[in-house]
Amino acid sequence: MTNSTIKSIKALEILDSRGNPTVRVLMELEDGTKVSSSVPSGASTGEYEAVEVRDGDASRYGGKGVLNAVANVNDKIAALVVGMDAKEQAKIDRAMIELDGTENKSNLGANAILGVSMAAAKAAAASSGVELYQYLGGADARRIPVPCMNILNGGEHANNSVDFQEFMAVPHGAPTFSEGLRYVAETFHKLEKILAKKGYSTAKGDEGGYAPNLGSNEEAMELIIEAIKEAGYIPGKDISIAIDSAATSFSTDKKGHYDMKWSGAGKKTSDDLIAIAKVWIEKYPIILWEDPLAEEDWEGFAKFTAEFGDKIEVVGDDIFVTNTKFISRGIKEHTANSSLIKLNQIGTVTETVDAVRMCRDHGWRYFLSHRSGETADTFLADFAVAMDGGHLKTGSASRSERLAKYNRLLEIEMMLEGEALYSWK
Ligand code: PGA
Ligand code: ZN
Repeated sequence: MTNSTIKSIKALEILDSRGNPTVRVLMELEDGTKVSSSVPSGASTGEYEAVEVRDGDASRYGGKGVLNAVANVNDKIAALVVGMDAKEQAKIDRAMIELDGTENKSNLGANAILGVSMAAAKAAAASSGVELYQYLGGADARRIPVPCMNILNGGEHANNSVDFQEFMAVPHGAPTFSEGLRYVAETFHKLEKILAKKGYSTAKGDEGGYAPNLGSNEEAMELIIEAIKEAGYIPGKDISIAIDSAATSFSTDKKGHYDMKWSGAGKKTSDDLIAIAKVWIEKYPIILWEDPLAEEDWEGFAKFTAEFGDKIEVVGDDIFVTNTKFISRGIKEHTANSSLIKLNQIGTVTETVDAVRMCRDHGWRYFLSHRSGETADTFLADFAVAMDGGHLKTGSASRSERLAKYNRLLEIEMMLEGEALYSWK
């Protein structure tokens, strides 16, 4: 037994930022270290994501309860992991994957497994007396990611007329993380004023961005450009724009056919969406485009990348689901040039690091991300610094579950005492 041997694990059902149940894991080590971790949850999820086990009992939370996942932690996983050393992350994760025995973690639940996996990393860091970002990233982990702030929400994250799910302001021209965060928070506040002046709603979507009923998707771009300028910044130089179409959510067959139903723009093919992107990329300072096409539209994705991949970062989210099996196919087929990275899409810390490593090894970029259903857990902030990610998205300058991550990054920047790095490239 070492000091960092896991003494106990206890899970409970808590609520996420949408008021839906999720899993929190409390872990204690033999040396008295106590940590907790909370698991996020998506809305526009990919078909092949690791599975969240939900109770399906309609009498509780509309079937979304997680008491079974909680019981899996308290019984089966605790029996396996108690007595292991929290520092043996890969061993712990491997043991849970084997105990689960399925391809997609549908037996124990990715929500149960990830809660324990993250808790082990946190406990090991605390027990070692180092910050989580240092524990996971080593002594040279000091790059703070560019905050891609989602200031306008649409698609499945809002109840409005915008098809594309996320419009992000990207302060790549700022000198530091804290300045970058200020640039985009100020832009967010200007956007509110512009929307109000035009008589649009300033209600917010799931990730805290505004969710107005606009006349078209393109109007979102115009309004954001106006907000960037009014905040005193130069579009394309100080702040550029990133888009997550989350195109699976408006695809009729998850392949080459789409229906831009929320805006009323109607039926589209992959080629139509690529044609829209061509106009936008020429006209606006777009730096990154995530899920421009749906999760099974590998062909459309490759066409999109062939056309724009030398100018912008093309990110696959639903199509890769943080899974090396799909990322490796993407690398072979030139499907994209970057992968989104979400811990709960794959379900363990070790496999998430494997996904990042695969991207890095093949000259791809990777984009660290929260989920639309979040908690106050700040694991992602430390993880992003540890992975030397360069950029992350964790919502708007509104809603504490989003700000918690940005604020933790401010804290890390301060702890680095002037040694923090900040760069898009
Ligand atoms: P989700 O959205 O968490 O609802 O999946 C985030 C994303 O699509 O990037
Ligand atoms: Zn996405």
